[in-house]
Amino acid sequence: MRQTSRVFLLLVLGVLFISQIPSISARRENSHPFFKKTKFDPIPHHVKLESELDAGETLYASKYVDDHKTAKKLSCVEIGAPFTNCKKLESIDYSLDATTDPFSFSGFITVNETDNSNLFYWFFEAQNGNKDAPVVLFLQGGPGASSLFGLFSENGPYAMLPNLTMVPRNPSWNTNYSMIYIDNPVGTGFSFTEGALNSNEDEIASNLFSCLQQFFKLYPEYADNEFYVAGESYGSRYISALAYYTIQQNYAGVNLKGIAIGDGFADLRSMVTQYANLCFYTGLCDMVQTGIFEMYQAKIIAAIDQEQWLIANDLFTDLVNGPPDLFTNYTGSSNYYDIRTSSEPSYGGDFETFVNSTQIRQLLHVGNHYFQDNDDVYNALREDIPKSSTPLYPPILSSGMKVMLYNGNMDFIVHPTLTEYFITTIPWSGIPFLYESPRIIWRLPSDPSSVAGYVKQYQNFIQVTVRDAGHMVPFNQPERALDMITRFIENLPFPS
Ligand SMILES: *[C@@H]1O[C@H](CO)[C@@H](O)[C@H](O)[C@H]1NC(C)=O
Ligand SMILES: *[C@@H]1O[C@H](CO)[C@@H](O)[C@H](O)[C@H]1NC(C)=O
Ligand SMILES: *[C@@H]1O[C@H](CO)[C@@H](O)[C@H](O)[C@H]1NC(C)=O
Ligand SMILES: *[C@@H]1O[C@H](CO)[C@@H](O)[C@H](O)[C@H]1NC(C)=O
Ligand SMILES: *[C@@H]1O[C@H](CO)[C@@H](O)[C@H](O)[C@H]1NC(C)=O
Repeated sequence: MRQTSRVFLLLVLGVLFISQIPSISARRENSHPFFKKTKFDPIPHHVKLESELDAGETLYASKYVDDHKTAKKLSCVEIGAPFTNCKKLESIDYSLDATTDPFSFSGFITVNETDNSNLFYWFFEAQNGNKDAPVVLFLQGGPGASSLFGLFSENGPYAMLPNLTMVPRNPSWNTNYSMIYIDNPVGTGFSFTEGALNSNEDEIASNLFSCLQQFFKLYPEYADNEFYVAGESYGSRYISALAYYTIQQNYAGVNLKGIAIGDGFADLRSMVTQYANLCFYTGLCDMVQTGIFEMYQAKIIAAIDQEQWLIANDLFTDLVNGPPDLFTNYTGSSNYYDIRTSSEPSYGGDFETFVNSTQIRQLLHVGNHYFQDNDDVYNALREDIPKSSTPLYPPILSSGMKVMLYNGNMDFIVHPTLTEYFITTIPWSGIPFLYESPRIIWRLPSDPSSVAGYVKQYQNFIQVTVRDAGHMVPFNQPERALDMITRFIENLPFPS
């Protein structure tokens, strides 16, 4: 779950990655009314990577929460095509829906004044120019992983080449949806606090909710749009806590319609029961090793039942969330995100060095706050990791909010079997019906000869297994992930 970036520094091959980026000229026009011929400026032409110079003012957008015009003026990111030159804002009197041109905005939103806690956000209006398009927030996990990983390596408008050049991602979730990336919780990426780091999901949910309430005041054109929260891995905990909190607050300015969780770490107690079988049946463990896995599982469950959270987390780290851990010791693989390879691939260029540079910090209005990548956020949440999100699911599902849980079938750390079993433990009346519902064999219309995955649905609850994907589903299967999120958001059936 710890998607730290050390691998970026070690691996600069990125061959697999570059092969996923067709040239810009390969983008073809289509008949969508909002389609605009998309041109990307090469960004930036020359980034100087030094990070020690003065990066100017920090933008605390919350100061302008009652003055959205100034907020937009100050937060607009001058990043070039397809995002519009910020000068244009004045000519449209800061009404974003007075033009189909998309803009990009970023800054800090203050979520706790006492502690000076600030969350960094980067917002991209839908590239197709549809100002009524659903808005999707993407949250990375970790704990402590920056959501800019999702932006640059999974679904954002840009991918990062090994030589730290930003290039358009194709396909991107940003073509038809407005995307927000928030570094969460405070202490992650650019987000910072002068107080203590968050140690539980309630604090994280209330901070995120405050951030979103303010966000929709800063960009009021978006307050009535459908809003979705997507994310992966440990982000599962944040997303379910945020959804529950939003329902409790009676939405209050946050028009949340659904949550989409990829390879979500929801409940260690139920999920941990599957590792031994998983290791055995994927051929990664022999019978003796499987027995040791079972022994660890029993110890973890006992520790959770005695509310010995640190012990439970340490045992989990010994088992699979190290390394060094038993999984690596037995399999020789440090890649529990994808059982097909024994070490992690390059997920693209080192975006941390890129965004930490003076030039990009200035562009993003973070001023002299540096990008953080350390274990502090993880350490502050060590007691939270073994706790359960299960009790949040029945009220979320009963509210009618759409919920999609999806997994890559090549992941180890949150393999589909873990999610399948976790779902059976949710005390919601619809679960037996989901269990009995037919499992659809899902194929993409653009690729009908391949099976994209499997889908089960009961009412507002959808469970998807994506074939040939590891933990980072949109990284491995960008077309399938896009098809899946589009069908989820637009309530379209999954074709077989
Ligand atoms: C955007 O929406 C149009 C119209 O529905 C669709 O044809 C196109 O495939 C979508 N593109 C992406 C990248 O989502
Ligand atoms: C960002 O730059 C600062 C100043 O050079 C440096 O101390 C810090 O380690 C850098 N952060 C990352 C994640 O590289
Ligand atoms: C802000 O942080 C302080 C100190 O951690 C805490 O006591 C307070 O409840 C927080 N305020 C809000 C609105 O969350
Ligand atoms: C970065 O790499 C890409 C792809 O190899 C290449 O087209 C581009 O010219 C490179 N940019 C710089 C600044 O070296
Ligand atoms: C895995 O191997 C390392 C190095 O030999 C060792 O320190 C560690 O205790 C082992 N882990 C487990 C869970 O046995």
